[in-house]
Amino acid sequence: MIRLERPEDEAEISQVIEAAFGYRDVARFAEQIRASPAFIPELAFVAEEAGEIIGHTMLSWVELEGQDVKVLILTPMSVRPDRQRQGVGVALVEAALAAADELGESLVIVEGIPAYYPRFGFRSASALGLERPDPRTPDAAWMVYPLSGYDPALRGRVVYPSFFPPPPARA
Ligand SMILES: CC(C)(COP(=O)(O)OP(=O)(O)OC[C@H]1O[C@@H](n2cnc3c(N)ncnc32)[C@H](O)[C@@H]1OP(=O)(O)O)[C@@H](O)C(=O)NCCC(=O)NCCS
Repeated sequence: MIRLERPEDEAEISQVIEAAFGYRDVARFAEQIRASPAFIPELAFVAEEAGEIIGHTMLSWVELEGQDVKVLILTPMSVRPDRQRQGVGVALVEAALAAADELGESLVIVEGIPAYYPRFGFRSASALGLERPDPRTPDAAWMVYPLSGYDPALRGRVVYPSFFPPPPARA
């Protein structure tokens, strides 16, 4: 079952993120997003099974440099190791994209596994005129999902909140 995360889920979500990545930094990153103005409670999801959280993802705000424009980024994305490769990640991403579309948003950025995200319709963000915040991010990992509200005039350099870690610690 995919549902919105709730404040009381925070500790369990952090455990799932830490288990998925194998270290604590990404869990702390998610906590920082949640505590920041970039957090969007309507776009933060958990996968729950038998009362346990087995996966998590969230969409939060990033900006286009020099413009009064906010777009979405999908980060982090985590499925508990014992439940990976069973469709949980697909269900989470699809729920997040559908909810963002419903809200009339324009696009969703991801810095992610190049072999994973194209299945949803993510494609090269550079090709659509969206520049990486940091050139150390591999271009193949720099992807975007245009939503129904996408406008090709949305171009420029994406900038992250200052607490975002440098690549490759982001995920
Ligand atoms: C990456 C991750 C979120 C995928 O979630 P998941 O629930 O395991 O993935 P799903 O079962 O929904 O995967 C669906 C498909 O993607 C494939 N897939 C899963 N993980 C993949 C990976 N790391 N690389 C390439 N393909 C992958 C699956 O094989 C499956 O393919 P199929 O439909 O052809 O069988 C999860 O494995 C994870 O938490 N990994 C560790 C944390 C991480 O790296 N997160 C960052 C993602 S940018």
